[in-house]
Amino acid sequence: MCGIVGYIGKNNVKDVLINGLKSLEYRGYDSSGIALSDGKNIQIIKSIGRIKNLEDKINNEKLINAYKGIAHTRWATHGGANEINAHPHKVGKITLVHNGIIENMDYLKTKLEKQGYKFKSQTDSEIIAALIDSHLSDNTLKAINEATKEIIGSYALGIISELDKDCLYATRKDSPLLLGKGNEENFFASDITAINKYTNKFILLDEKEIAVLTEKDIKIYNDNLKEITQNIQKISIDKNSNSKLGYDHYMLKEIMEEPIVLEKTLKSYLENIDKLPDLSKYKQIHIVACGSALYAGMIGKFLFEKYANISCTCEVASEYRYKKNIYDQKTLVILISQSGETADTIAAMRQAKKENIDTLAIVNVKTSTIAREADIKLFIEAGPEIAVATTKAYILQVAMISLLAFKLAKPKLKDPKKIIDEFSKTPKIIKNILDKKETYLNIAKQIYQNENLFFIGRGLDYAISLEGSLKLKEISYIHSEAYQAGELKHGTISLVHEGMPIIAIITDDNLKDKTIANLREVEARGAKTFVICKDNLKEKETDITVPNTSDFTISLEIVPVLQLIAYEVAKLRNCDIDKPKNLAKSVTVE
Ligand code: F6R
Repeated sequence: MCGIVGYIGKNNVKDVLINGLKSLEYRGYDSSGIALSDGKNIQIIKSIGRIKNLEDKINNEKLINAYKGIAHTRWATHGGANEINAHPHKVGKITLVHNGIIENMDYLKTKLEKQGYKFKSQTDSEIIAALIDSHLSDNTLKAINEATKEIIGSYALGIISELDKDCLYATRKDSPLLLGKGNEENFFASDITAINKYTNKFILLDEKEIAVLTEKDIKIYNDNLKEITQNIQKISIDKNSNSKLGYDHYMLKEIMEEPIVLEKTLKSYLENIDKLPDLSKYKQIHIVACGSALYAGMIGKFLFEKYANISCTCEVASEYRYKKNIYDQKTLVILISQSGETADTIAAMRQAKKENIDTLAIVNVKTSTIAREADIKLFIEAGPEIAVATTKAYILQVAMISLLAFKLAKPKLKDPKKIIDEFSKTPKIIKNILDKKETYLNIAKQIYQNENLFFIGRGLDYAISLEGSLKLKEISYIHSEAYQAGELKHGTISLVHEGMPIIAIITDDNLKDKTIANLREVEARGAKTFVICKDNLKEKETDITVPNTSDFTISLEIVPVLQLIAYEVAKLRNCDIDKPKNLAKSVTVE
């Protein structure tokens, strides 16, 4: 949610910032802005809409000869998407960009207004600028430290102070921010992709640390203003992740990468399953996540319970963090998160840790907060995911949780070698599934003009349906719900009307007839039905089939079908597939 980038050095400041913002645009894209500084003057340019609008505006301005600057792309929290609310905000001698949410904003605003500060925007970020300015006498570092101590909430801040000609400041709490160390140039950014073009040396800023960046140097201070030693890490990421490689959209490119990343993620565990943690000492599992990651967790819950015979809950992190959770010392909390920065999932993890409960994270971004703080970490190898709707990372989350369930269930399974064999074959199977683009386009053509749709399934198929439905609604804006097939007739069936598409997922041999019966019920009320099933369960010529494998791998086969149907529908509806409206990829606020 919101992306920030900062640069100091001899390179073209505007270009570095705009390139950075383009890579961070997935974090929010309703407005953006930059502040350039030559040490004397500050030039602020803002625009609503995409970074391209900002770039065009900047190209029409006469720019100062800057050697440092900060920039921001926004996902609105406080106040609408307009130029006044766009960052950077300047109050007194402080100009800043902010990612996060200030919870005691009203209190701070009233206090600052009494001191004479007047605010132009509706944002909490402008209040932080005033707060730091109110503490400023002759030492910016001290003022930032004192001001941030008054803030309740989350923040990643990039700051220019008019007191200091030759430096930038950066600090964070509960929002991501890292530093990049270059040769006679230095950077900060919300994530690596914004600056990996210029450096592969990064410093992960810890909670409440304040960094002072000059062209030649970076110094880091803790919240007692004691300078601390820096841990510079060399991290290389795939440069192709920032390119569509000829595909129309990042989403399509990322779906097409699924066989490759799956093979990469699974390979070493399939060669030696002992590399996975042994969960046999636990008596119950709580899976906690948000959105698609939660739906990956639902698949895990099904497998843990059915095959490993362990009690497992799967809960929305924003609820879990505030409710009473029943733990004992044999509880394991599994967090699933692509970004590793989802605010609610982080809070759920910290809550469990506070109770001395073991935490295991399935996470993609290795430098993220969840990756740093969880007790046990399992990394998926998705690489950067640029499309806002997750695809390749989701499928890897499913693969990893399925593998964990498999390992725990292994002693109870009749033929574990067969399952390992199925896991190994999945990347190739998915590749074949992805090749049938025409089939998915054909379905898409039959549903894209509808405004309402249901996915139905039972058990594991319901868990898979949830993701199919989310993917479709978030990128195509068709209202879609996933329902347990047997539950539909308890009220919701009243919504079924002539021509309404209903997609059934059927992979359970034992429950096939039940779901088919539910399909007949909706067909009798005019619904147009579609079936996605295992090839041994095919009934009609039009059914979409995938190879018949076990519960451990079948979701991995169905999901790409659902992703491609959603993609084709959104394309037919001319939607902005990679950046759906109102969304942002990394949800770093509550
Ligand atoms: C949907 C989507 C979101 C995320 C959710 C959790 O396509 O991407 O629902 O899955 O916001 O994000 P992470 O996995 O980063 O915690």
